[in-house]
Amino acid sequence: MCTRDAAAEQLTNWQKDNADTIGYAKNSAGIGIVNADTSLTIGVRGVIPLRDYQMMEHLQHFNRERIPERVVHAKGAGAFGEFTCTASLEDYTVSKVFVEGTKTPIAVRFSLVNGSLGSADTVRDIRGFALKFYTEDGIWDLVGNNTPIFFVKDPMLFPMLIHSQKSNPVTNLRDWDAYWDFLTLNPMTVYQTLRLYADKGIPNGYRYQDGYGCHTFSLIDKNRQLTWCKFTYETNQGTENLDTDEAVKLAGTDPDYATRDLYNSIANGDYPSWTFYVQLMTTDQAKALDFDPFDITKIWPEDDFPKQKVGEFVLNRNPENYFAEIEQLAFSPSNLIPGIGDSPDRLLQGRLFAYQDAHRYRLGVNNRQLAVNAPTNGTANFQRDGAMCIYNQGGAPNYYPNSFGGPNPDPDAAQWTNPPQEFSGKEDYYPEYYQDDNYSQPKSYWENDLDDDEKTRVVNNLACSLECTKEDIQKRAVEVFTNVSEDLGDRLAKALNLDSVKGQLKA
Ligand code: HEM
Repeated sequence: MCTRDAAAEQLTNWQKDNADTIGYAKNSAGIGIVNADTSLTIGVRGVIPLRDYQMMEHLQHFNRERIPERVVHAKGAGAFGEFTCTASLEDYTVSKVFVEGTKTPIAVRFSLVNGSLGSADTVRDIRGFALKFYTEDGIWDLVGNNTPIFFVKDPMLFPMLIHSQKSNPVTNLRDWDAYWDFLTLNPMTVYQTLRLYADKGIPNGYRYQDGYGCHTFSLIDKNRQLTWCKFTYETNQGTENLDTDEAVKLAGTDPDYATRDLYNSIANGDYPSWTFYVQLMTTDQAKALDFDPFDITKIWPEDDFPKQKVGEFVLNRNPENYFAEIEQLAFSPSNLIPGIGDSPDRLLQGRLFAYQDAHRYRLGVNNRQLAVNAPTNGTANFQRDGAMCIYNQGGAPNYYPNSFGGPNPDPDAAQWTNPPQEFSGKEDYYPEYYQDDNYSQPKSYWENDLDDDEKTRVVNNLACSLECTKEDIQKRAVEVFTNVSEDLGDRLAKALNLDSVKGQLKA
């Protein structure tokens, strides 16, 4: 990519604003740097003495520049902006984020799931779409994707899914046998797979995609009544997708296509924005449903649970420094504020633990003291010390209870969590949950949401990928897609040049 766009002008722009004021080079201790490009040597052709500590410091810091990349969603881009509530949700939640007119600063990070840092932006993959709200009651993270559902519904299966989609441990290559083996052995994945191979599977950059919180969350009102809720954010730019061939070409010519597009649009003042919706479900409605409303492999039909517009958000500031503000951004689904809570969604329950653990590994135990992760309303607790501690809470008591005026638990926080919920049943493993009607919703999607042209593209995309795997796995895939729709199964079998496989394998 050789265009002189806003991204290409970054250094020139920096120079205009800063070059006159930056002063002389100083090391990390503020000591003037003697020579920035030459080592100290004994004579022109001689050795470097150990006392050239500035050269040592320079090399040693360089050796430590890389931190572990995110185990998933490594490649991404982010920006900052503001969420505005345009229609109050006060009847359902005490959260001030949803009081009409309230503006909340946000950080957003977009990502791809499977590729490593440096992989191409235009491959067929789910896109992460994570929102961090810096609210006056603490951080709320909505760590969503660009699809409303997910492949699996039990946290045990998440590492299995990812192992089957990342590199083979021997060849270090993408392994299409592992990929399709896992998906076809787990029919709960079929709806997400079908959506992934449709047009929205390769969005035309991050600005042209919708986002979804995916899970069912709870809203808690001033009487501590709970309403179940799903969050959706629709792009105001309109959805746009890339044609598969164009995407493949771009992966070679401009692998950072989506990152560049986001940066340039914001740098040019063309701020991308999204409209924010909720779907609501009462606890009684949830009990009466013929499907599990906490199953992340299923949507809530909009006819029954219409979307209500509650706000908008805009991204109007690029990071001043990518590593500091985006690579070190840390989202956790456990960051839930008073008035917004979790649900019995199994996958969400697993995610409540997984992310903070990942942050401690990736960024360290004090990662929440980093500016982009710190709550704007401060911290007062009983955690102390640890690597890279910046704010250690001074002389406040570090134990509880104490008689020295240390912080007490917050009655508001206690009041506005989920009200007591009743669960019953025997403690056991229930794999039958995986068979819970995997086909009705993808069937309806195939029949009602896709026109014939897109159906043809879905089949071609699926066939193109399935061609890379073994015939028995291809046949199993046809079987699974036939369970969605005979039409889809037939078309796929034809595209793969497989004779009818119906009846050859067990359903
Ligand atoms: C990132 C685990 C399911 C969306 C991550 C990370 C981990 C993780 C460990 C890296 C975090 C970091 O280093 O900062 C899991 C587990 C899951 C799960 C164990 C299931 C049990 C999901 C689902 C969604 C999702 C269902 C979408 C609804 C994301 C996003 C990121 C991410 C958007 C990137 C966040 C960022 O931009 O920093 N996940 N994940 N994940 N996950 Fe998940």
